[in-house]
Amino acid sequence: MNALQVELGERSYPIYIDSNIYNDLSYFQKHIRGNKVLVVCDSNTAQHYLQATLAMLSDYQCQSITLSAGESQKTLDTVSQIYDALMQYKFDRNCTLIALGGGVVGDICGFAAATFQRGVTFIQVPTTLLAQVDSSVGGKTGVNHPLGKNMIGAFHQPACVIADMSTLRSLPPRELKAGLAEVIKYGLIDDAEFYHWLNDNLQDLLALDTDKLAYTVTRCCGNKARIVAADERESGQRALLNLGHTFGHAIETAMGYGNWLHGEAIAAGMCMAARFSANSGFLAEEIVDSVVNTFKSVGLPTEPPADMTSEQFMDLMYRDKKVRDNVLTLVLMNDVGGAFLSSTFDTELLRTTLFQTLNK
Ligand code: GLY
Repeated sequence: MNALQVELGERSYPIYIDSNIYNDLSYFQKHIRGNKVLVVCDSNTAQHYLQATLAMLSDYQCQSITLSAGESQKTLDTVSQIYDALMQYKFDRNCTLIALGGGVVGDICGFAAATFQRGVTFIQVPTTLLAQVDSSVGGKTGVNHPLGKNMIGAFHQPACVIADMSTLRSLPPRELKAGLAEVIKYGLIDDAEFYHWLNDNLQDLLALDTDKLAYTVTRCCGNKARIVAADERESGQRALLNLGHTFGHAIETAMGYGNWLHGEAIAAGMCMAARFSANSGFLAEEIVDSVVNTFKSVGLPTEPPADMTSEQFMDLMYRDKKVRDNVLTLVLMNDVGGAFLSSTFDTELLRTTLFQTLNK
């Protein structure tokens, strides 16, 4: 078993990474607060994991809520369904919510936990690769607004993260590939050695090699834990974790939430960030080619949707959470493992690059 620690003072917590642990009470017991537990899952995870989870928690007053699956459910209405259940079952502050699912379930459940009675305990049990390597760690919770992704939310750290490699076996191939986009992101940000390892091992990860998946999740979570510990509330360096996300969120919003998976959108977004970095004179052309080929080898998109326009991109990108007083900070690259923040990039060059990419 690999256990990492996210070091955040009194809000520190462990990330457990192993196989067949999602229904092992010994991992949960010391993190559950109170006797009332609400398991939040979606229709996919309910089918595979809910029964065993409820059996594990039989000594608690345990309830569950099953949400409809998909990014389109990441709304305040869905959060309200959780509040309704918590009120109906008379939950008080001394309770625990368990997010059993992918990034959407984790973000919604985390936001409900952040806001119910001004904050209650929650545990992340991520069952997708994307959630295991990224969204379950670091305490970002929230929902989408029709005009912008993740626009409503709160920082609320989980009590622990329980990442079970065996849950990846039930993952549809499209979701596994989408998770690999976030994995590759860590290599591109500041871990060139990992990027090169990935290029030699991506096919084994797609074939669900358990040891390599555990190594991957451990490496990504280690990188994320370090960045989050240094900048929990994203006043600086944590924004590097958004490589490709300003482009990607624009795609997700424009295409309708759920039509492009988050991982697909940020894969195209990272290729766009690399292209813009090269056009700005920061990145060598051969690195752009390498980045594009890496995403291609996984079967991920490397181009934005053909029906988006450059103006639509500019409009959506300037609604990003990294805009302050109309100035956008972008994550750019000067090398593999060399991501950096720029708010002084050439806006007109960005417009031209988008126009050249989209032909409109
Ligand atoms: N997913 C980016 C972050 O947690 O900061």
